[in-house]
Amino acid sequence: MTQINVTVDGASYTDDVEPRMLLVHYLRERLGKVGTVVGCDTSNCGACTVHLDGKSVKSCNMLAVQADGHEVTTVEGLAHDGELHPVQKAFHECHALQCGYCTPGMIMQSIDLLNDNPHPSEEEIRVGLEGNLCRCTGYHNIVKAVQSAAGSSAGATS
Ligand code: FES
Ligand code: FES
Repeated sequence: MTQINVTVDGASYTDDVEPRMLLVHYLRERLGKVGTVVGCDTSNCGACTVHLDGKSVKSCNMLAVQADGHEVTTVEGLAHDGELHPVQKAFHECHALQCGYCTPGMIMQSIDLLNDNPHPSEEEIRVGLEGNLCRCTGYHNIVKAVQSAAGSSAGATS
């Protein structure tokens, strides 16, 4: 076991973990952050995307011990005082989801994209989200949601 200290959605945790434990499993199984989901076993789908120190990462693609000393934000840490993050609002308002399985990862990736490029073109949005797969929507309303969020204040995770 290895001891880690991480901040997740603003709260500090000290835990002993198996060195081989994936970050996504730590988030879901230890911390109950089940908003972060597993959609594949090939690091392709992006459903597990979270922010590590403000940058998106696929949490199935790193170990919990690699998050030691870092700050993780999940989709569950985006809303504040009952107010959804602007990107969450935009996904809701633009009907950018159907089954919703990809949505946590899509939202986390979209926020990172908008942090880097507050006014992306449609092409830049599609390229920026290419690591996140959606089986339901055809991506059209997801792109619309990111465009809509870009028109409001879609910035940082906190
Ligand atoms: S579960 Fe992480 S990329 Fe699919
Ligand atoms: S809304 Fe179903 S996978 Fe994207």
